[in-house]
Amino acid sequence: MGARIPDITAPNAPGTDRVAAIRPDDGVRDRPVELQRYLGQMRIGVLTSGGDCPGLNAVIRSVVHRAVVDHGDEVIGFHDGWKGLLDCDYRKLDLDAVGGILALGGTILGSSRVQPAHLRDGVERARGHVAELGLDAVIPIGGEGTLKAARLLSDAGLPIVGVPKTIDNDIASTDVTFGFDTAVGVATEALDRLKTTAESHQRVLIVEVMGRHTGWIALHSGMAAGAHAIVVPERPFDVDELTEVVRQRFEAGKKFAIVVAAEGAKPQAGSMEFDTGGTDVYGHERFAGIARQLSVELERRLDKEARPVILGHVQRGGTPTAYDRVLATRFGWHAVEAAHRGAFGMMTALRGTDITLVPLAEAVERLKTVPTERYTEAECVL
Ligand code: F6P
Repeated sequence: MGARIPDITAPNAPGTDRVAAIRPDDGVRDRPVELQRYLGQMRIGVLTSGGDCPGLNAVIRSVVHRAVVDHGDEVIGFHDGWKGLLDCDYRKLDLDAVGGILALGGTILGSSRVQPAHLRDGVERARGHVAELGLDAVIPIGGEGTLKAARLLSDAGLPIVGVPKTIDNDIASTDVTFGFDTAVGVATEALDRLKTTAESHQRVLIVEVMGRHTGWIALHSGMAAGAHAIVVPERPFDVDELTEVVRQRFEAGKKFAIVVAAEGAKPQAGSMEFDTGGTDVYGHERFAGIARQLSVELERRLDKEARPVILGHVQRGGTPTAYDRVLATRFGWHAVEAAHRGAFGMMTALRGTDITLVPLAEAVERLKTVPTERYTEAECVL
């Protein structure tokens, strides 16, 4: 249980320095003291939305500890993401409810994806439920889609503080999102294992990892495991070049090759037959399987057995790493502080080693893609 601390929103109270330490660049420190006092005890709603990710429960636990124990707040958790807010489906979260969940993967609240149009139509319903429940703040924890929805509701005047999550690590305004470290660890371990079996059978293995728009998991796991080629969505690959890399490896007497492919990676236009899978109801691109398609192509070109391995949701499941638990816990703490300071329309972010607040509007402006320099560093050791 967290230690009870003094009312840190009171002027000159001991502990005020701890608030200053979050260093928001948003001017909330200038808020009138009366408002800060008013916000001293709150009802906070929390929800997890979008694809799940290891560390969600650590945020929920941290929010409850900080809010309930330290501030005397009440916390409720909406079920299944935004759907819970729209349907007013929730439960009270107290210390018992979050006991033992720190190391648990998934989310105790459940998650779902919501079609953007559905949420736009639901703004008034959400506003009504926030008012009905007497909520002073809502903390949505989610990735790109969730944060866009958070911005929409924030622009409509709802008191929102976002917390970013995604194994893809593609949220631009934060250096890292929790879940990424766990996913990279899972993918790296899988690659280490695949290397030994690939060598026994002189195979080329094309290992597909998650990453719709960005290749962070592919880049990091490929570097960590010593893959022989990495293909990412940011750089359409030249299939001739890729074939040559693998061919030269075999010609040099090596017995196997590992290619790591982010699920959103694509060949340069016209360089090989390639199916794209259209889009789903949430507007997300459906993939037709880069690993499968590339294995067919490489086997044909090299006359070597090439097999696809799709890691899929195993990268998202299970217990978070220590790094992700710590980052998630810090985000939860700072989200509650932000709510208490009335820093709505903001999102927690990691910058260097500090947690800060960034406007939601900035957070959803663009995705954080793999820059050329990062790819170049990796190329040298492929
Ligand atoms: O955004 C996280 C993520 O895991 C992506 O890497 C992946 O493309 C997507 O979610 C899969 O989503 P779903 O579980 O809805 O198929």
